Amino acid sequence: MKTIIEPFKIKSVEPIKFTTEEERERILQEAGYNLFLVKAEDVLIDLLTDSGTSAMSAKQWAGIMEGDESYAGARSFFRFEKITKELTGFKYIIPTHQGRAAEKILFTIVGGAGKFIPNNTHFDTTRANIEYSGAEAHDLLVPIGKDPSARADFKGNMDVDALEKFINEKGKENIPLVMITVTNNAGGGQPVSMENIRATKEVASKYGIPLFIDACRFAENAYFIKKRERGYQNKTVKEIVQEMFSYADGCTMSAKKDAFVNMGGFLALNDDMIAQNARNILIVTEGFPTYGGLAGRDLEAMAQGLEEILDEHYLQYRLRSVEYLGEKLIEAGVPILEPPGGHAIYLDAKRFLPNIPPEQFPGQAIVAELFKVGGVRTVEIGSVMFGKNEKRTGKFIPSTMELVRLAIPRRVYTQSHIDYVVECVIEVFNNRSKLHGYKIVYEAPMLRHFTARFLPH
Ligand code: F0G
Repeated sequence: MKTIIEPFKIKSVEPIKFTTEEERERILQEAGYNLFLVKAEDVLIDLLTDSGTSAMSAKQWAGIMEGDESYAGARSFFRFEKITKELTGFKYIIPTHQGRAAEKILFTIVGGAGKFIPNNTHFDTTRANIEYSGAEAHDLLVPIGKDPSARADFKGNMDVDALEKFINEKGKENIPLVMITVTNNAGGGQPVSMENIRATKEVASKYGIPLFIDACRFAENAYFIKKRERGYQNKTVKEIVQEMFSYADGCTMSAKKDAFVNMGGFLALNDDMIAQNARNILIVTEGFPTYGGLAGRDLEAMAQGLEEILDEHYLQYRLRSVEYLGEKLIEAGVPILEPPGGHAIYLDAKRFLPNIPPEQFPGQAIVAELFKVGGVRTVEIGSVMFGKNEKRTGKFIPSTMELVRLAIPRRVYTQSHIDYVVECVIEVFNNRSKLHGYKIVYEAPMLRHFTARFLPH
């Protein structure tokens, strides 16, 4: 088999700025060691997120010129609605400015005090929107998904037995919907199998509860199914995507991931009453139902992106290029969450820095050092993001896993960029005995990782 190559040529480039290690040390200090507070132009390779960072195609840029900016009934909306309906089969397609806006609208309607929302693993904004509504967010991931070193094909699966137990415990009338996130971002970008989506639907249906998919990375998940699940090898990704959505009653989508756009999202669903409510809230907070929080040109780019993502040469390259980074790190003995995910590699900070306890944020120590050593920006997904201090006792409750995510923007970096990242990670790993922990000196009441400031411990 020949090398799997980037299935595109580069037509437009953006220079990146080089800095010295001394400069980066100063930048880190000024940013309170929080990489969210570093200026993007001071970053050499930006692996903070795969969200909104894609390179758009020539056809998407052409769509930007083609966009119909009419307030109501724009042509671009109908193009976007048509492809989205074709892929998801849902009756109502409601554009929003990004994924969390769809979440906010959905949970304003179905959330509230006394309600419980289970998921394989909620992403931070989903959890925040649920909790903000007064409801409780619960993660019911299969046990193997919580072991970073265990290899399995579908570590993103929902624990279906735990789900049924949960429904019986909390009462079906208190669970407005069950969610399943594909791929499971907070759990390592791991896929969910078709069998698991089907089984989750069966349990939810048994109790009359609708199933919603958090669909940001639906195409990456579908390609994993094609590669790993029996019976799907000869199906097209489009057919697999359609089957995935056929088990659901609705979805929230951040188009900033698998639709290759810099901004966009939607809420899609079948229920007439929820849809009507959602559109009413949309008009108050986002905009008229045929543009949501978006310009016509954004809808056009999103529609084009949703067609391009189904290209199997692209998906093969996408998953392979992430796996390539993972393989090089494993070869060098660097502990990562295995197997490699669809959009990112996650360093396992617990095994990387066993001497730094969770309350001193080992993931943050790696994030800071990787920036210092190579100007590479990554994000901690561990106790900075998910850890808590118990309200009553002040006792520290760590996150289940301590991870550092190297998210790969779509169609942006080449293999030599990735080789450089590998060299930087290995350098940090070889110097790991010299690393120290961090303490938080400022934190916001919610989603503290975005604005927290740290000092070396
Ligand atoms: N759900 C999942 C699984 C996500 O990964 C994200 C965003 C959202 C919902 C929210 O979408 O950003 O468009 O409002 N994840 C980004 C990330 C931010 O870096 O993983 P959004």
